[in-house]
Amino acid sequence: MRDVAAAGASTGPRVLPRNDPRQYDDLAGEWWRPDGAFAMLHWLAEARAALVPPATRAGAVLVDLGCGAGLLAPHLAGRDYRHVGVDLTRSALVQAAEHGVSVIQGDATAVPLPDGCADVVSAGELLEHVPDWPRAVAEACRLLRPGGVLVLDTLNDTALARLVAVRIAERLPTVPRGIHDPRLFVDARALVAECARHGVDLRLRGIRPQVGGVLAWLLRRARAAGTPGTVPAGRAPRIVPTRSTAVLYQGRGVRKG
Ligand SMILES: C[S@@+](CC[C@H](N)C(=O)[O-])C[C@H]1O[C@@H](n2cnc3c(N)ncnc32)[C@H](O)[C@@H]1O
Repeated sequence: MRDVAAAGASTGPRVLPRNDPRQYDDLAGEWWRPDGAFAMLHWLAEARAALVPPATRAGAVLVDLGCGAGLLAPHLAGRDYRHVGVDLTRSALVQAAEHGVSVIQGDATAVPLPDGCADVVSAGELLEHVPDWPRAVAEACRLLRPGGVLVLDTLNDTALARLVAVRIAERLPTVPRGIHDPRLFVDARALVAECARHGVDLRLRGIRPQVGGVLAWLLRRARAAGTPGTVPAGRAPRIVPTRSTAVLYQGRGVRKG
């Protein structure tokens, strides 16, 4: 298994270890490109937003841990949440702020926000990047007020996930090479147990991109590549539920009072 990533088209490629956060700086221009290296994050953000309940009070707060460039923001538009994003990567936070997110540069394992400040905490495609993910889960649960909702998605710690999400996906244009360190993938049972320890009853379901949608998107993308500056038209692939949580899964849970 390769343990490095080559990235950075404009300044020449530099070689970084797997999961090195500096990869997000090198890929900063990709966040909001619908056909770019982070395209699948857009599809996942839409699916995650569907788990967010309607705001139940004026001034409701959604804390988006590992918010990246704020891809969740368009899916929260008009839903009456104040969207607060926390991330390590400044270049991503600059873009999140441009999309209306109130940004905080910080670590998801030590969030500079008070206990119980959030009606919703989102941790989308974050935990599999955090070496001490139980600490990030503890922080997510700490931030939730009683009755608040945790929504997340991540990659399972299975051989199948390592095959699909690293060996196969990193050869597709939907996942940047070296972005994941498979040693950090998150065991689903351990995640449920960790949430329970912190008062959140997390329910899981497996998810995957709809195969036909991905094939159509890859075709449109290949055609558009022949005409520089063209964005592939058509609907983005949908994320659909699947019976197995063995690769990619979503979680949703309510914090006990
Ligand atoms: C795969 S991206 C997901 C971004 C966003 N949640 C989305 O779905 O579009 C992972 C993000 O987590 C951030 N990240 C990684 N480790 C982190 C940590 N310990 N604390 C805060 N952010 C972190 C990275 O900078 C990156 O923006």
